[in-house]
Amino acid sequence: MVTRRTFLGMSLATGATLLAGRSATIFGAGSSTTPSLATNSVWKLGGDLPVNRLGFGAMRITGDGIWGWPPDRENALKVLRRAVELGVNLIDTADAYGPETSELLIAEALHPYPAGLVIATKGGLTRPGPGEWVPNGRPEYLKGCVEKSLKRLRLERIDLYQLHTVDRKVPMEESLGALKEMQGAGKIRHVGLSNVSPEEIVRARKVVPIVSVQNRYNIGDRKSEKALIYCEKEELGFLPWFPIGGGNGLKSGAALDAIAKAHGASVYQLAIAWLLERSPVMLPIPGTSKIAHLEENVAAGKLKLTPEEWKTIDALAG
Ligand SMILES: NC(=O)c1ccc[n+]([C@@H]2O[C@H](COP(=O)([O-])OP(=O)(O)OC[C@H]3O[C@@H](n4cnc5c(N)ncnc54)[C@H](OP(=O)(O)O)[C@@H]3O)[C@@H](O)[C@H]2O)c1
Repeated sequence: MVTRRTFLGMSLATGATLLAGRSATIFGAGSSTTPSLATNSVWKLGGDLPVNRLGFGAMRITGDGIWGWPPDRENALKVLRRAVELGVNLIDTADAYGPETSELLIAEALHPYPAGLVIATKGGLTRPGPGEWVPNGRPEYLKGCVEKSLKRLRLERIDLYQLHTVDRKVPMEESLGALKEMQGAGKIRHVGLSNVSPEEIVRARKVVPIVSVQNRYNIGDRKSEKALIYCEKEELGFLPWFPIGGGNGLKSGAALDAIAKAHGASVYQLAIAWLLERSPVMLPIPGTSKIAHLEENVAAGKLKLTPEEWKTIDALAG
């Protein structure tokens, strides 16, 4: 049983106790209905950049509508620092979160960055206003985005730069060509994709090596199952966004509630544990603006479901 309280009583040096390596058994799995539960706690992005698989999504530390500064800026800084204290070393952000404020808060809270902290940012979506997201995949625009993210994050090189979305008005080869150029200039270490189909991943990989994919995926939304299976087979990291259902939360039900009760856990923790066990390439990035939720979510990394429980949750697919 891993509750927030018991977790906090454990060593906080999560990273030091994490298991290295990864389960090979899931590879080749054609469907999520045959559990071969992943046990690795670390994933190496691009084969050379180790991250603890349970990351943090920094979209929720901005203002309402993912717009502007958060109402309590000090709290946002505390959330970021607490995430790192708890052993999180993969933080996902984007220039579009705020816009700019998420990246600026990350630098304010954490720079100079501790060794091994991977900040994954993105470009390719503009923000005309609160709640509005408009793609821009033009090469010159993207190159400017990389330069600006480097400044805001106070980095010389971005460990993981993700194309936030494919701009249907611009051939994706052109957008990715710009990122390849920035990689060649030493400004990006690894390139990732977001909101893509398996076919688009294949196309992208003809332009530049791709190390990760970030798509919406959670217990109730498996539209990206094929992309996940492709990532497993090709050993690309998969960052599920809305891992715990996003702003609308998760629909709990009798089955989920019973398993949660048996573990003394919340349904959000079950959602995270289910994802972590779903695949060794799964890198959930739950987002929150609250320290209590952050602690609860990180504690879910210790929760182990039985194969029967995992199957019961798996059967709840929307
Ligand atoms: N690539 C893309 O297009 C894309 C799109 C969306 C998101 N993302 C990334 O994915 C990350 C995760 O997505 P997300 O943050 O939108 O969704 P999420 O992690 O599924 O859910 C976040 C929501 O759940 C709440 N929450 C978090 N922990 C909770 C807990 N333990 N108990 C109850 N409620 C809890 C949060 O509110 P509180 O603040 O009140 O905790 C927030 O409203 C983002 O932060 C961002 O980095 C990427």
